[in-house]
Amino acid sequence: ATTLGAAAAQSGRYFGAAVAGGKLSDSQYTTILNREFNSITAENEMKWDHTEPSRNNFTFGSADRIANHARSQNKQLRGHTLVWHSQLPSWVSGIRDANTLRSVMNNHINVVAGRYRGQIHSWDVVNEAFADGGSGQLRPSVFRDVLGTGFIEEAFRTARAADPAAKLCYNDYNIEDWNAAKTQGVYRLVRDFKARGVPIDCVGLQAHFGSGGAPATFQTTVANFAALGVDVQLTELDIAQASPTAYANTVRACLNVPRCTGITTWGVRDIDSWRGSENPLLFDRSGNKKQAYDAVLNVL
Ligand code: XIL
Repeated sequence: ATTLGAAAAQSGRYFGAAVAGGKLSDSQYTTILNREFNSITAENEMKWDHTEPSRNNFTFGSADRIANHARSQNKQLRGHTLVWHSQLPSWVSGIRDANTLRSVMNNHINVVAGRYRGQIHSWDVVNEAFADGGSGQLRPSVFRDVLGTGFIEEAFRTARAADPAAKLCYNDYNIEDWNAAKTQGVYRLVRDFKARGVPIDCVGLQAHFGSGGAPATFQTTVANFAALGVDVQLTELDIAQASPTAYANTVRACLNVPRCTGITTWGVRDIDSWRGSENPLLFDRSGNKKQAYDAVLNVL
């Protein structure tokens, strides 16, 4: 195969990119996107601040634009994200009453997941709920602080009812190293959900890596999550300086685990990256394929 998407499809996987809606009018950007990738994640447009800027006032213009592009180009669509402490409007983060927040959270999930019902292959239902560092516990957030730790379970149950066909993912960063306390915290959550029948289908490893790439235990982590009976997806891959070896090793670890079902890079060209000065993607600032691109295509 001669493109990332087609190469990944040879093993039943997808290869996607995060897309910024405002760039869909850039023909170089869209040419690369349409040619190389077969899955799209909205980089920002499905987040709470974009979709429900004030209570029960839902705005889907920019998210729809991305969803329409995916549909017209026959790309899969990942949903990102329903419940997250960041890019959360202050009208939500200021709520102190549990009954109010519960109904606000569930309404948000129902309306957003409901709008794209049947169109999303995987939803990041809850994003980045675990704390950094050694605690292995949830981070402080309005959701944890007002609803308690059960907010994650509630969000997944609500999402399942709102879009029964979507795979429901827990997504986070710095959970790629098996020895990290944060990884262990997420592992315990997923194991508990599977044991109690709470609906969860996938774990998203964001995979924002430094120049050395994935930690040595990365494939172990992917395999151990998969062994719980969930898919694993690399949801936001970028690697500082984009070493070809680091990219190849990361992709190979996914391919070595049957339930690692897809990879998304967090942007298309280096100029599109949220870590732009680190040149972490597979296409350079002029839209040319980088060495890391060839390394990835070779491994797929
Ligand atoms: C980033 C976007 O790329 C930026 O454009 C935005 O300003 C901030 O968010 N983890 C996530 C993504 O789950 O949603 C974040 O995306 C990057 C870190």
